[in-house]
Amino acid sequence: MNTAIVTGATSGIGEAIAETLIARGFRVIGTSRNSSAVVDPIPGVDYRDLDLTDPASIRAFVNGIGDTPIDVLINNAGESQCGPIEELPIEAITRLFQLNVFGAIELTQAVLPAMRERGRGRIINIGSMLASFPLAYRSSYAATKAAIKGFATAARFELEPYGIDITTVEPGSIATGLSARRTKYCGPHSPYLRDFTTVIARLDGKEAQGISAETVAKTVLRAVEDKKTLPIYAVGSNAPAVFLAQRLLPRTVLEKFTARAYGLPSKRAVN
Ligand SMILES: NC(=O)c1ccc[n+]([C@@H]2O[C@H](COP(=O)([O-])OP(=O)(O)OC[C@H]3O[C@@H](n4cnc5c(N)ncnc54)[C@H](OP(=O)(O)O)[C@@H]3O)[C@@H](O)[C@H]2O)c1
Repeated sequence: MNTAIVTGATSGIGEAIAETLIARGFRVIGTSRNSSAVVDPIPGVDYRDLDLTDPASIRAFVNGIGDTPIDVLINNAGESQCGPIEELPIEAITRLFQLNVFGAIELTQAVLPAMRERGRGRIINIGSMLASFPLAYRSSYAATKAAIKGFATAARFELEPYGIDITTVEPGSIATGLSARRTKYCGPHSPYLRDFTTVIARLDGKEAQGISAETVAKTVLRAVEDKKTLPIYAVGSNAPAVFLAQRLLPRTVLEKFTARAYGLPSKRAVN
């Protein structure tokens, strides 16, 4: 039986991935910051504690895996963050990178030696279409997702000769309730408050109307089972049309479309 680790398996996309892999016959090790308090645990999932913002927790999780051969690692756990770049506290950005990037890379490093020795393994990072189509007031989050994609697209070349396949799944807007859990940094007297509020309201609206986590899980399953993965799998937010537009249109035109779609002015008067 193949074994998969799914980080953040208690909610949204991670929960749907864990459920899909169990149905497919995988042994699933699912993580949570509090594995003893999982509401509605998925039968068959082996829940373990993991807080990716805590290096000691990452070490304990990796030690707990021990010699268990891992066939698939899905770096899914993550947090959403928004705010004007001028006001994002550096501590909050650092924490977000620890959770969305460094923690995932540390887990990747932990499973790679055994995958290399066995000559097989698959690593799937859950990125975001915001890495391919960045948006105002999402700079820190878009940067974490671009970083995790960068690690994967570069490492593909070095891991392929050892039978290891690493790729990124970029979801668009997915209705998981993530927007309610998004950390927000914009002061009540911020000069950006009006634009920030407009952009985030439109974004929240898109997420509420987004596709289901189960649809993303189907794409992840494709990435798990494809003979050879694509460098990127995108799903949701009309991904095929949007990526086609990116190939056909000049970047400045795309930026204008994006700004208009999210209600951003091209210029604000300076007081
Ligand atoms: N929803 C979207 O529209 C969307 C779009 C693009 C990309 N994504 C990405 O998809 C992934 C899943 O998103 P989602 O919408 O399913 O989010 P979600 O419903 O909020 O689930 C997040 C998961 O991450 C875990 N988690 C949170 N903080 C953690 C920490 N410090 N250490 C370890 N685990 C932690 C949570 O588990 P516990 O609370 O049990 O610890 C939970 O299972 C994320 O990487 C997100 O950035 C989401």
